[in-house]
Amino acid sequence: MPASLIHITGSQPLFFLQSAASSYVMGVHPQGTLCHLHWGPKVSDTAHDDFAALLDIPQRPFSTAVLNAEGKHVPLDILPCEYPTANTGDFAPPAIDIEHADGTRGFRLAYESHRVIPGKPSLPGLPATYVENDNEAATLEITLRDTPSNIAVILRYTVFANHDAIARSVRITNAGTQSATLRRALSAAIDFPDASAHSLDMIHLPGSWARERWLERQPLHSGEQWIASRRGVSSHQHNPFFALASSGAGEDHGEVFGFSLVYSGNHVGGIDVDQYARPRALTGIHPDGFAWRLAPGETFHAPEAVLVYSSRGLGGLSRTYHRLYRERLVRGPWRDRERPVLINNWEATYFEFTEDKLVAIAAGAAKIGCELFVLDDGWFGHRTAPDRALGDWTTNTGKLPNGLLSLVKRINDHGLSFGLWFEPEMVSVKSTLYETHPDWCLHFPGRPRTESRSQLVLDFSRPEVVDNIFAQMEAVISSAPIRYIKWDMNRHLAEIASAALPPERQGETAHRHILGVYALLERLLARFPDLLIEGCSGGGGRFDPGMLHYTPQIWTSDNSDAISRLRIQHGTSLVYPPCTMGAHVSAVPNHQVRRTTTLRTRCHVALAGVFGFELDPNTLGEADLAEVAALTALARKTRHLVRHGDLHRLADPFASDEAAWMLVLPDGSEALVTHVVTVIHANRPGKRLRLRGLTPDTSYRNELNPAEQWRGDFLLNVGLPVKYEADFGSVLWYLRRV
Ligand code: GLA
Repeated sequence: MPASLIHITGSQPLFFLQSAASSYVMGVHPQGTLCHLHWGPKVSDTAHDDFAALLDIPQRPFSTAVLNAEGKHVPLDILPCEYPTANTGDFAPPAIDIEHADGTRGFRLAYESHRVIPGKPSLPGLPATYVENDNEAATLEITLRDTPSNIAVILRYTVFANHDAIARSVRITNAGTQSATLRRALSAAIDFPDASAHSLDMIHLPGSWARERWLERQPLHSGEQWIASRRGVSSHQHNPFFALASSGAGEDHGEVFGFSLVYSGNHVGGIDVDQYARPRALTGIHPDGFAWRLAPGETFHAPEAVLVYSSRGLGGLSRTYHRLYRERLVRGPWRDRERPVLINNWEATYFEFTEDKLVAIAAGAAKIGCELFVLDDGWFGHRTAPDRALGDWTTNTGKLPNGLLSLVKRINDHGLSFGLWFEPEMVSVKSTLYETHPDWCLHFPGRPRTESRSQLVLDFSRPEVVDNIFAQMEAVISSAPIRYIKWDMNRHLAEIASAALPPERQGETAHRHILGVYALLERLLARFPDLLIEGCSGGGGRFDPGMLHYTPQIWTSDNSDAISRLRIQHGTSLVYPPCTMGAHVSAVPNHQVRRTTTLRTRCHVALAGVFGFELDPNTLGEADLAEVAALTALARKTRHLVRHGDLHRLADPFASDEAAWMLVLPDGSEALVTHVVTVIHANRPGKRLRLRGLTPDTSYRNELNPAEQWRGDFLLNVGLPVKYEADFGSVLWYLRRV
């Protein structure tokens, strides 16, 4: 275990979590409360006395207080509490709220003990960042306890040797003799100590279907400001991420504090700015509808929150998340493999396909350089329309009379591997599964069942439901060489209740459902370790770190229009690495927004993620085919930049009529630079893009136009000259060190 990551000083301990460029400091107040003292630029633990002095917090008028051992008032509503509790004198939003057997709510937690563990323990049943050996991290566990109920709260902090991030999680154990109910159990809280709330902005990623993760930034105001999902999934509407940024922070400068929740269900995140202008940030499972019964001896595990501090602006924040998430959140063999260029038949055929038509698409795809053919929705049960057959995962012999294996073999004959779409968590009312097990979906007994996209949600809190879907999927996946699955999820949850849980445990259903989703993913990957799974949820409605743990790539949005994608990909890239973003070239006019853009621009934009297609190549003319084949070859040649490159956002499509970004290998030897203009304006001044991450004292050649060559310091300090072409025009440079 690297000795330098966690320092603990003093008998009234102070805890210093020391990552490469930042420190996170907590201290135990003499009255027992664990207090938050600092998160930000690195400080030495020799500053023990300076930090200890911060715990001497003066009383203010009207403060709530307890008397300490010396008879001194300790102001409870001013203490910067590390894990604040409800209803015991701290009036800001709590991290935990508990209902005792007598119906009273709230407790006070006091520090009891701590220990340091080498490496990073896993979280039972939950996705999380991980290490591959104990030298990569150290973990601090601090136990807090409420003495009257004997309920312990264990806060866990992992500091990584190679990533400037802190992973926090919480577990709550009832060591008492009576049951209690958790009404809220968030994953992290931070009390920012100074009164600078009004020079901080909150940044978050709201959106909708086909408009996911449109970055928003607002100055903090007094009171509460939240992002939330009560939809049962992380959702298109609010990604489980937010950041606090100093008001002037940009891509390369300023302080930014990121909060990313490794969870795929209901979540809440945000800030309360109190009467002293102090922000308290919180993130975790949304308390609405949540009630977790803790019988004596039981433990609840809250999901992990990954906290990143950057003094190098939003770009620094993103690159830290990218590297951590692609190296130590995504797992399995596909973490380190180059991802195949895929072609998906959905927009080419929708439900109208035959075996021959699919094979023809695959034949066309082989000619342009695709490597994987994905058969989307419609291949199973009696699925001829969106209102039927979900849950019946057997081949639709009406559409594929020769069976799946015959199709797969014919696709393989064209040199493409084969992938298949599933929507495992769903059931159609018109299905054999629903006829057989009408109580297997989330529902309220005796009340109408809310449909969305004509489907209901299976109750994955029930192990027998997960077993059934696993058995069906296993039978299909082992019936043919299926190398990839697209795991879709196309509706949000309503009537969240389980026929299998007793009344006092109904409030556990939503979280148990998500645990069931994770359990199914675990089982499938254990059974088929080489399977590549792409996440999807009506496009990018479940693009979260929880899913990324199992699905190394996620379909970023159903909106594949190149111009719409500029904002969607820019917003998504705030947290998520390019190599996790499914980015496909589709037909024009675009099916979602009816816009027509050139094939070149569509390809250039898709080159920023996991490149693929949503069209029938047989509809392209000769010239387009040649161009698309050349760009697919380029995608294959440059995909190591998407896998390993550092992303620098160079122009912001939310703030201007253009977007630009670059992917550069960490050693500066290669870079892919893209510039796209959305609207041309007359008499626009010339533009230079100042590049990042190159080596100054060498030259770079543009592999796409070898006559173009520049010095590194010129590109870094003067900039790459950009010519504006036309509306929706794009330019790409593939720079290699000479
Ligand atoms: C969702 C997905 C699409 C497609 C359809 C099929 O909308 O995001 O890519 O798979 O479902 O029904």
